[in-house]
Amino acid sequence: MFALLVGHAGPALAFEDDEACLMCHKYPKMGRIDEDGKQKSYYVMPHVFTKTVHRNVPCRDCHKEIRELPHKPLSTGVTCDSECHSIQNPSTGKPFSHKPIVDTFRKSVHGREKVATGSDADKPYCVNCHTNPLYNAKEEKPPKHIVDRCVVCHEDSGFAEKWYNHTSRRIREIKRSPQEIVEMCSACHADKGMIERRQQVAAQEGRELGRKFPIAVTSYEESFHGKVTKYGNADAANCLNCHADAVNYYLSVHELLPSRDPKSPVSSQKRVETCKQCHVRADSNYAALDPHPSSKKEDNAFKHYAELIYGIVGNSVLVALVGLAAFETWGRMRDGVSWRFREGSSWWRRTRRKSNRIP
Ligand code: HEC
Ligand code: HEC
Ligand code: HEC
Ligand code: HEC
Ligand code: HEC
Ligand code: HEC
Ligand code: HEC
Repeated sequence: MFALLVGHAGPALAFEDDEACLMCHKYPKMGRIDEDGKQKSYYVMPHVFTKTVHRNVPCRDCHKEIRELPHKPLSTGVTCDSECHSIQNPSTGKPFSHKPIVDTFRKSVHGREKVATGSDADKPYCVNCHTNPLYNAKEEKPPKHIVDRCVVCHEDSGFAEKWYNHTSRRIREIKRSPQEIVEMCSACHADKGMIERRQQVAAQEGRELGRKFPIAVTSYEESFHGKVTKYGNADAANCLNCHADAVNYYLSVHELLPSRDPKSPVSSQKRVETCKQCHVRADSNYAALDPHPSSKKEDNAFKHYAELIYGIVGNSVLVALVGLAAFETWGRMRDGVSWRFREGSSWWRRTRRKSNRIP
């Protein structure tokens, strides 16, 4: 019934289901329970897919394992370094691919293959951090007054809308908020199981891990940056302000390196420069302030006990003050003195004939 899929129907401008994948995949209930008992959905929402950044990519440019219909279950999934047969990179004329990003990523601390063997499965692959984002999700359609202007010269509103969407998203620098970045990194770096597994693997392989590896997230949350970021401040440093280079940021977030590597923005060689982006007068003394401080006993005993003692002293003073005020009030009430808001609010004594103010 299904012909063997050979070749493609040429470059398509917007999503066309020219290989009839949606014939089956448009049904909401389509899915199954996998070997681990997890519910998997194979439903593709056509009206949503057409609004995503990948809407012009035919299904099989990514799902390249599928060579015939009906197709077999898949083993490797989608690797992000495949070549789009249907989309050219307009700047090089070659088939488009994310291969340059994937190659950079492979050399980073997180480098792994799609099908991860052994403990590499703890590291993120592209799809851990990226879904298939919508173009300008907050806009129903590209603003008409802008498209109208493009159409004056370009004649075709389809062309204008496509390029409006593609470009405006980047010009507006639509990206994750600092809070989202902290959440993204914390998904793994706050996971005790992951931390222990990596420490074991590193010990077996005789590899070094950063001093702060086990407490990266808990300590950041205790830091000044972490606290103000949590309450919505967007100017304080999030994980990527320090760990990625601000120059060529979008590539740099994919080549994170350990602080031991002199190329890392948090290495001892480059740390001053990194703090200076925001703390313009920072010098090597300032840069030595710990961005991952911890007052947990097992991480920093001195800080832990210092904070404990300050806490006890502070709380005792507070209790003493409140206690003093309470005793004073109680004593005055016993003497028949009560609170009234009158003539500047003060203590008043109630007598039989009149109230008189106590000086
Ligand atoms: C005849 C109906 C049909 C058509 C047409 C079809 N699929 Fe599927 N697809 C299925 C079924 C059924 C499954 C579930 C297979 C399973 O559970 O083993 C599935 C599963 C999948 C999966 C998940 C596979 C896995 O093992 O995780 C992907 C990806 C997929 N299809 C992509 C496509 C693409 C791309 C096309 C178009 C080239 C396409 N399908 C066309 C019926 C179809
Ligand atoms: C830009 C690449 C890309 C395009 C285009 C794309 N997909 Fe996918 N698709 C993925 C990725 C990535 C996943 C997540 C699974 C994985 O990582 O292998 C996925 C998952 C799926 C799944 C669920 C499979 C599972 O194992 O959970 C189905 C079904 C599917 N796609 C069908 C389609 C259909 C039909 C189209 C065309 C309308 C399409 N995809 C277009 C990249 C793509
Ligand atoms: C640890 C999380 C993480 C991983 C893993 C990751 N990325 Fe990213 N990626 C980001 C962040 C953060 C940005 C910056 C934009 C933002 O904040 O949303 C970004 C930006 C991008 C952009 C630019 C998007 C745009 O609209 O301008 C592309 C393309 C990209 N990543 C592709 C990839 C590919 C391909 C992989 C796999 C090799 C990958 N990413 C792996 C976090 C990640
Ligand atoms: C005054 C006429 C004019 C207006 C208005 C205009 N363009 Fe253009 N555009 C051109 C010309 C002419 C070119 C050819 C590039 C060149 O050589 O300067 C071009 C090139 C382009 C290209 C590159 C196409 C390619 O494949 O090389 C894109 C994309 C584009 N315009 C998008 C837009 C968008 C989006 C708008 C509206 C926001 C817009 N243009 C408004 C005249 C215009
Ligand atoms: C999917 C899980 C995951 C996510 C998400 C993730 N990481 Fe990692 N990260 C790891 C694993 C696993 C390692 C350990 C690699 C090793 O053993 O060398 C690691 C290593 C690191 C290292 C080097 C540690 C060392 O001591 O050598 C740094 C720095 C780092 N990650 C920062 C980040 C930042 C910043 C983010 C957010 C943008 C992030 N990670 C997101 C899993 C993750
Ligand atoms: C103000 C800058 C700054 C911020 C913000 C920051 N870090 Fe760090 N990070 C550093 C420095 C500097 C080191 C090296 C500390 C040392 O070993 O003395 C480090 C070390 C680490 C390490 C240990 C591995 C290594 O390379 O030494 C991990 C993992 C890590 N950070 C993850 C994160 C995560 C996740 C976040 C966000 C929740 C974050 N960092 C926020 C500066 C920062
Ligand atoms: C993305 C910008 C940014 C980066 C990068 C950055 N900080 Fe900050 N930092 C801030 C902001 C904003 C505050 C809030 C306090 C303020 O206004 O001074 C702050 C506060 C601090 C404080 C609290 C006390 C104070 O001086 O106000 C310390 C300590 C600190 N940063 C150290 C560092 C160190 C060390 C580095 C480099 C490893 C660094 N910061 C990198 C933005 C940044």
